[in-house]
Amino acid sequence: MDKKTIRDIDVAGKRVLVRVDFNVPLDSEGRITDDTRIRAVVPTIQYLVEQGARAILVSHLGRPKGVTDSLRLDPVAARLSKLIGRPVAKVNDCIGDEVAEAAARLQNGDILLLENVRFYKEEEKNDLEFAKKLASIADVYVNDAFGTAHRAHASTEGVAHLLPAVSGFLMEKEIEYLGKALSSPERPFVSVLGGAKVADKIGVIENLIPQVNSLLIGGGMAFTFLKAQGKEIGKSLLDADSLNLAKDLMAKAARAGVAFELPVDVVVVAEVEPGAASQTVPVDAIPADQYGVDIGPETVKRFSETIAGAKTVVWNGPMGVFEIVDFARGTEGVAHAMSASGAITIVGGGDSAAAVEQLGYGDKITHISTGGGASLEFLEGKALPGVVALLDR
Ligand code: 3PG
Repeated sequence: MDKKTIRDIDVAGKRVLVRVDFNVPLDSEGRITDDTRIRAVVPTIQYLVEQGARAILVSHLGRPKGVTDSLRLDPVAARLSKLIGRPVAKVNDCIGDEVAEAAARLQNGDILLLENVRFYKEEEKNDLEFAKKLASIADVYVNDAFGTAHRAHASTEGVAHLLPAVSGFLMEKEIEYLGKALSSPERPFVSVLGGAKVADKIGVIENLIPQVNSLLIGGGMAFTFLKAQGKEIGKSLLDADSLNLAKDLMAKAARAGVAFELPVDVVVVAEVEPGAASQTVPVDAIPADQYGVDIGPETVKRFSETIAGAKTVVWNGPMGVFEIVDFARGTEGVAHAMSASGAITIVGGGDSAAAVEQLGYGDKITHISTGGGASLEFLEGKALPGVVALLDR
């Protein structure tokens, strides 16, 4: 990475404002249901502690409009403290006197977590005065919030112009894996794309066509491509506004010599619900009254063969309605093929990362991104404002 990291600066005794992405899922009782994002920044915090820095962590959680008690970061402080085996102090604000005093009291190696930065609307507005208040309690800024790096907010972008700003280890790792896959992949380079809407993946497909050897398309969006090929897709998801675009993308892939693999069989049901009776049909025999909910076994076999021959695989978006266990087989098949291949395997954040973890393949994938929107924008070839603002090497 061409950006400075915490290894490149002296942090001993310094107050280090660390932007982390603790935007974790919570259940109705406010309990954390997946702490992957907290675990992912432990190496950075551990390093700061070992170096004798005074770590001041700042994050958002959810999309609050003003102060929202259910989105306070106290459960996150408790979980982090458990994971890191040290006390994590927590304050009830992210700017102001209480925060300045808590920051001033910190000793070398201490950790302080500020309150949800999105309780202030100034955060998302990237308000300069607000960024100055955040910066005022620290000597150095570290951005380790890859998941929020696509947002130009005060705590991700604005503040980086006000303090010496470097990346943490998670940010470095994310950019290295995703960056290398795009700029100098070991070939064959295969990308597996799924998810519901073609519109969400257009930028990714366009950016990947000049780079990849094969594109494997599954999930809800595959039906729009099948429809664009003139197939009847029954009641399956159709992104009607994207039909022409789907044709264009397939033509572009053909011109670039990219193998564009669509499902050859799909699992269909009369009602999309757990326990629904399903059948597998070839894609040219989808019944008019049925919904396609997963890729079929023949497709899994073909996708798996392509993946087995790859040296780099990047996957984003589930292959079916994986939340319902009966329709998770295609997603599991791809996860299995990736885990069994000797390739460098990268899973974009969001649903596909959750699916891979949930299905138990997490530790068999080279890199699972912690960023959903951020990894998508990265794969679209967009510059991430939170990264751009950091110091160049
Ligand atoms: C995410 O979960 O993708 C990031 O934390 C960003 O959250 P946001 O989409 O609310 O900005």
